[in-house]
Amino acid sequence: MTLEKTTTILLTGGAGYIGSHTFAALIDAGYQPVILDNFSNSHPAVLDRLQQLTGQRVVRERGDVLHAGFVAEVLRHYACEAVIHFAGVKAVGESVQQPLKYYSNNVGGLVSLLQAMETSACRSVVFSSSATVYGDPASVPIHEQFPCAPESPYAQTKLMCEDILASLGAADPAWRVGVLRYFNPVGAHPSGLIGENPRGTPNNLMPYVTQVAVGKRARLQVFGDDYLTPDGTGVRDYLHVMDLAEGHVAAVQALLTRHQSFTVNLGTGKGVSVLEVLSAFERASGRRVPFEFAPRRAGDVAQYYADVSLAEAVLGWRATRTLDDMCRDSWRWQQTNPEGYEAGPDIPPRPGLRSRPNEPAQPAAVA
Ligand code: NAD
Ligand code: UD1
Repeated sequence: MTLEKTTTILLTGGAGYIGSHTFAALIDAGYQPVILDNFSNSHPAVLDRLQQLTGQRVVRERGDVLHAGFVAEVLRHYACEAVIHFAGVKAVGESVQQPLKYYSNNVGGLVSLLQAMETSACRSVVFSSSATVYGDPASVPIHEQFPCAPESPYAQTKLMCEDILASLGAADPAWRVGVLRYFNPVGAHPSGLIGENPRGTPNNLMPYVTQVAVGKRARLQVFGDDYLTPDGTGVRDYLHVMDLAEGHVAAVQALLTRHQSFTVNLGTGKGVSVLEVLSAFERASGRRVPFEFAPRRAGDVAQYYADVSLAEAVLGWRATRTLDDMCRDSWRWQQTNPEGYEAGPDIPPRPGLRSRPNEPAQPAAVA
């Protein structure tokens, strides 16, 4: 079965890092994505960039997934056939300090979305999960059948969401659920128009490295040099965000055409150390990145990378971009947007963007 070009997909959290890249990939694949976001961790200027990038009007609604009535109206108005649920909060350390924020937004947000979907005809959902659900794995590569052992409230919320989705699928076979366990997304769209826009000091490696290279930070601290890895530094499975975005397109396509639920890892299947990232980045940028070794970061594991065979079998998808591509595109984004979206042109709210971030949304007014 082939899909109509006009298949409409709702992207909750679609103005964020992964959602905005997925928006571009969906347009490329001929879908009509609709963004629903409360802009609690994104900047409205991304919408203008997406319009430049795709040459199309960006359909969006400003509002909160916790407001089920609003979400239901959006689903019905646009006749959405599937939802990709990116909206959520994602900082591991913050989740330890403020667990209720995480249970409320991530678990409560999913329940509210599913309730909204129940009142519309839409029964297909792709969920942003994380490799963090595996905790500290007994071995690598990590297969989907490995036991889950979340080690933070953030990781716990992801596993709880997966369980809720599994219960729903068991109760009503009309539901189609695609759970995607991301490894470490990095990089940016090759145009340099959209990318990761962390607020404050980045927690993650790649945005920290790019900020050192552009002169915003003095040096990188490499957390740990005594892991049982080839060079002693932590090993991860870094994945280009455009490969990840295309993985979402493949997931939506699989749900809508084959009507089967699945849970798959999205990674490259290759482990790369912190020092390997650094030297690839120096190669791509032509800049030196000063660093010093520092103690291990609490909660870090020595190494994890994905077994990607199931994703290939189920979705017909695999990552194609290299570490050099990831570094080159991260650097282009950072160099051309040293202040992220903050320095870019903000655009005034359109009629469909009536509520302010974190305010309960008005019933859907439509763009
Ligand atoms: P992001 O913060 O850039 O994007 C999330 C978006 O959701 C933001 O635009 C934010 O404003 C919006 N949002 C948050 N709460 C909302 C709510 N209640 N209602 C409406 N909008 C809301 O994050 P991202 O990196 O794009 O991550 C997307 C998803 O993928 C998250 O669920 C995250 O947990 C998951 N994930 C991310 C990573 C990663 O490394 N970035 C890894 C694994 C999983
Ligand atoms: C972290 C989260 C994980 C989340 C992922 C999103 C923790 C414990 N885990 O994973 O839940 O899904 O981000 O991408 O926070 N590093 C440095 N110096 C830095 C930053 C990082 O040496 O300034 C090292 C880390 O020790 C690690 C590697 O770089 O070895 C990658 O770190 P990071 O980008 O934070 O990702 P994860 O720790 O894998």
